[in-house]
Amino acid sequence: MSIIQVKDKFFEKFISTTEIDSAVQKVAEAINRDYETKNPIFLAMLNGAFIFASDLIRKITVPCEISFVKFSSYSGTTSTEKLNELIGLNEELKNRYVIVLEDIVDTGITMNKLLKDIWEKEPLDVKVACFCFKPDAFKHFFTIDYLGMSIPNEFILGYGLDYDGQGRNLPDIYKIVP
Ligand code: IMP
Ligand code: MG
Repeated sequence: MSIIQVKDKFFEKFISTTEIDSAVQKVAEAINRDYETKNPIFLAMLNGAFIFASDLIRKITVPCEISFVKFSSYSGTTSTEKLNELIGLNEELKNRYVIVLEDIVDTGITMNKLLKDIWEKEPLDVKVACFCFKPDAFKHFFTIDYLGMSIPNEFILGYGLDYDGQGRNLPDIYKIVP
């Protein structure tokens, strides 16, 4: 079994690149079916979703656009996880079909706030495409319209997801060894 160390924690291989690829393919096929004439704009959440977004977008065969958004975090306080302002959203979303791309939905707090901010721009419709979902941690009510895979409530790493800034570059997904 391949165990790796990142900083003070150990992780074991959990989801292979082959399984990742077929999950992304499944999401892309569903979006291609649903958006043939809608010219959707994808909004990918930085930092984590950059790899999922780049894999997915190359499997999209319908006309589309992509842009990247990010939440700035409070600095100089202890609450670095607190969501602040949405930055990077320069596109006109009015009357557009928006598809949000996220690496993982855990409690749902991040996505819930993002969806609220996007709806304020008066799009025609907003859907959520997410690579991973932890149903046991989820505390909100929005729908995940396109999902790569559900996983248990365990900390994972790789494929864009980090532990304290490290590990986003790993092609496979690892889970923490308790
Ligand atoms: P939420 O707001 O609780 O849904 O968490 C969403 C954000 O937390 C994601 O965009 C990730 O950046 C991060 N996150 C949640 N679970 C994990 C994990 O297992 N590994 C790495 N990052 C995670
Ligand atoms: Mg993220």
